[in-house]
Amino acid sequence: MKITPARRINGRAQLPGDKSISHRAAIIAALANGASRITNFSPSEDCAATLSCLRELGVSIQSEGSSSLIVQGAGEFGLRVANEALYCGNSGSTMRMLAGVLAGQDFSSTLTGDNSLNSRPMQRIIEPLQLMGAELGSKNGKPPLTVKGLRPLKPIRYELPVASAQVKSCVLLAGLNAQGRTEVIERGGETRDHTERLLQWFGVPLERSVEGSVAISIDGPRSFAARDVSVPGDISSAAFLIAAAALLPGSKLEVEDVGLNPTRTMFVSMLRSLGAVVEVTDRCDEGHEPIGRLRVKGKLSAEPPSPVDSTLVRGNLIPQLIDELPLLAVVGTQVPGGIEIRDAAELRRKESDRIDVTVKNLRAMGAEVQEFEDGLAVHGRTQLRGAMLDSYGDHRIAMAFAVAALTAAGDSEIAGAQCVSVSFPDFFRCLESLVER
Ligand code: S3P
Repeated sequence: MKITPARRINGRAQLPGDKSISHRAAIIAALANGASRITNFSPSEDCAATLSCLRELGVSIQSEGSSSLIVQGAGEFGLRVANEALYCGNSGSTMRMLAGVLAGQDFSSTLTGDNSLNSRPMQRIIEPLQLMGAELGSKNGKPPLTVKGLRPLKPIRYELPVASAQVKSCVLLAGLNAQGRTEVIERGGETRDHTERLLQWFGVPLERSVEGSVAISIDGPRSFAARDVSVPGDISSAAFLIAAAALLPGSKLEVEDVGLNPTRTMFVSMLRSLGAVVEVTDRCDEGHEPIGRLRVKGKLSAEPPSPVDSTLVRGNLIPQLIDELPLLAVVGTQVPGGIEIRDAAELRRKESDRIDVTVKNLRAMGAEVQEFEDGLAVHGRTQLRGAMLDSYGDHRIAMAFAVAALTAAGDSEIAGAQCVSVSFPDFFRCLESLVER
């Protein structure tokens, strides 16, 4: 994909449905009693993988138009053994959350994925699911993963060893089929809470307590009725457009009906603290998730508070920015003082080693970058230059560097950019429709 620098961003965008929420809506609707309609379902390949696994497990799902689905819930006892291994593609969310569901079934399943997913760590879900009584098999804690379910599971009180919404969700979904109270404690920072919100939307009571850390409990076994779900626009996909608008002077961007869940909007808060003008209007808090309209004006403040220090991003902020960190590193090259990201070793375990590949691409564009085991530091205010870049097969890297390329001097080329379809198939068309040169 060739990217020519842009003068500014101008226009309005409607984002496809949030990927994280779409996975969960499909899975929870599949376990409900009755039919649920899901509207604005994510068109991502990742969410298509979740649907295809659910269909393999006997769930009937019909498409209605381009982004609406009817899921005929199988109910508490309705999933069926799959004929073959469940293929989760590139999607860690699919594998980790389905493992939680499958742990409580009275049959065995195998979950597998593409080369990237098959090299990602699964010990983090193997451990709690084994404590609950399921039998899990893997080679070195990596997929393919076999799950021999137990019904009912044993409830556990589990402190997350890594701040991960996928692991939290896996244990809570397993908790639906456990005999008694399952509790998950979030040490190391609060993660996205879409599973909790959706379970409650479907009528499943959860208890949330905050005593230093957030703890969520669910009482099982639990059956529940179907309910329609409307999925908000994906704020993590919007982040790329928002960053491009914030970086290019004179830009004006409106993003409609986008999810504003506070566990997902930290990137917008960061941009604001770096001087970007981002306004929220038409906020609506009804339903299972807050949504609204974002208005962005470029560019990041030219007059920083002095003296200019590097902005340090670490600790509990990391889980709330996790998918936006490569993009934040790109933004860091354009803010006075630069940005240092620490406590983010988890980035090395995503679809690619996102620290390594971000550093490689930034250096190719002439940025000054330091790499750490748990993060990176970029020097501020660097005129990036167009370069030969690589997505390394990672959708968020392709999109972050498409934004970088728009701000660069000279054309760039991104190898393997088609992987954007993992989360945002229409990304390049959408971006191009907003770009003025
Ligand atoms: C996700 C959680 C995050 C995120 C991923 C989607 C989710 O992963 O990086 O893209 O939908 O729960 P972890 O919670 O494992 O860090």
